[in-house]
Amino acid sequence: MNENIIWHNTEITRRDREEQQGHQGVVLWLTGLSGSGKSTVATALQKKLFETGHRVYILDGDNIRHGLNADLGFSEQDRMENIRRIGEVAKLFMDAGVITITAFISPFRTDRNRIRDILPEGKFIEVHVSAPLEVCESRDPKGLYKKARTGELFQFTGIDSPYEEPEKPEIVIETFRVSVEENVAQIYYYLVKHHYIKTE
Ligand code: ADX
Repeated sequence: MNENIIWHNTEITRRDREEQQGHQGVVLWLTGLSGSGKSTVATALQKKLFETGHRVYILDGDNIRHGLNADLGFSEQDRMENIRRIGEVAKLFMDAGVITITAFISPFRTDRNRIRDILPEGKFIEVHVSAPLEVCESRDPKGLYKKARTGELFQFTGIDSPYEEPEKPEIVIETFRVSVEENVAQIYYYLVKHHYIKTE
């Protein structure tokens, strides 16, 4: 072996990982009312990305609240902390090169913008999962709007707790008039167009 070749014990960076796997790490931050379709779109998008050979993972409202954030409720303070912690976790996943899909109501603009600020430029893609309150309420998959209306549940987003729509989201998907497949295709196309992933 050539004695002049020196092995450097260098750190493995995000860029090294991205180069090896052939796509970027990024956070796709889905935000929208309860019942707007965040989890449905996240699940279908994950499947599409996984099947096309990408590293992808979902952080979802209901499962995170059973574990990492089991100590948090739905006051403004707790929602802020919920989103702050998820933002930090999403950042780590992104840094590991993973396409990280988050599916939380994340009702407050300042909380979402704070995540954008802690991520490198271009690594936070805000996706507004848009459906009118009446539509979400009529879907009511968990029966929670009904409980909120009858006063069994308080501080429910859209009823007696605010939802602040994103002002300049990278992507808006309209789940009330477009199919899940089309929503997924729209996001997938965005990732290709902006070189986060390559075409097959
Ligand atoms: S967030 O506001 O802090 O971002 P998150 O997405 O984690 O909310 O959790 C929302 C889920 O918790 C809803 O889909 C619903 O199933 C449940 N939930 C229970 N109580 C409430 C409430 N008061 N407001 C909104 N969602 C609630």
